[in-house]
Amino acid sequence: MSSPVPIRLGVNVDHVATVRNARGGRHPDPVKAAEIAIAAGADGITAHLREDRRHIVDDDIARLKAHLKKPLNLEMAATAEMVGIACKLRPHAACIVPERREERTTEGGLDAAGQCEVLRAAVSELAGAGIRVSLFIAAEAAQIEAAIAIRASVIEIHTGAWCDALATGNAAAAAAEFERIRRAAAQAKNAGLEVHAGHGLDYVTAKRIAELGEIVELNIGHFLIGEAIFDGLEAAVRTMRAAIDRGRT
Ligand code: PXP
Repeated sequence: MSSPVPIRLGVNVDHVATVRNARGGRHPDPVKAAEIAIAAGADGITAHLREDRRHIVDDDIARLKAHLKKPLNLEMAATAEMVGIACKLRPHAACIVPERREERTTEGGLDAAGQCEVLRAAVSELAGAGIRVSLFIAAEAAQIEAAIAIRASVIEIHTGAWCDALATGNAAAAAAEFERIRRAAAQAKNAGLEVHAGHGLDYVTAKRIAELGEIVELNIGHFLIGEAIFDGLEAAVRTMRAAIDRGRT
């Protein structure tokens, strides 16, 4: 039997910047958090540069790119401004996410099917700059087909609806959501896409997702930064690393 493909852990440091920005100044520094996360077993760092710069700011992205020894994944909206920044900075990867100014977090995936033209142009420009591009989408066949038509090489499946169903104790909805994720991962992998997943994951849910062999990367932020308040960031990342490695094997 062949051994399972290892699963990568991307640690999202946005909320280190959220805490910093609550007071202004430079502390706590998302770059320092990224270095700790990498030392504790993260395979890469993710940061979302939002249009309103509510957490990560341009200087954070530039410093993350300059200092990190592991890949940087820039989450961004498919706007001319963000595509321009990404093409100039050339992170290892970009994940295109939907963004509405008033939302608290990224709610739901992209409407890849409804925004084909805009997304195809953004993907083409980013890929042309040597950036690996993923689309953050719901676990739906139509969205995966659209991602293929848009020529993205990677999708990230939005796990938020599943995590929400579990958190509210809705077992039937959670089971249905998990089955959607499982099917979507298989469909995308069969179509030749690289499959990632993320949003709302904790130690238990991340381990469960890691059991799906088609998924090769998880991006996790809010829970880890929250746990860091209690246990420290290094311990939180190490515990997550161990959980997803256990899930994979
Ligand atoms: N993946 C994507 C594309 C996201 O937009 C986010 C949230 O910024 C995450 C993963 C991480 O979600 P969470 O912070 O809930 O772990």
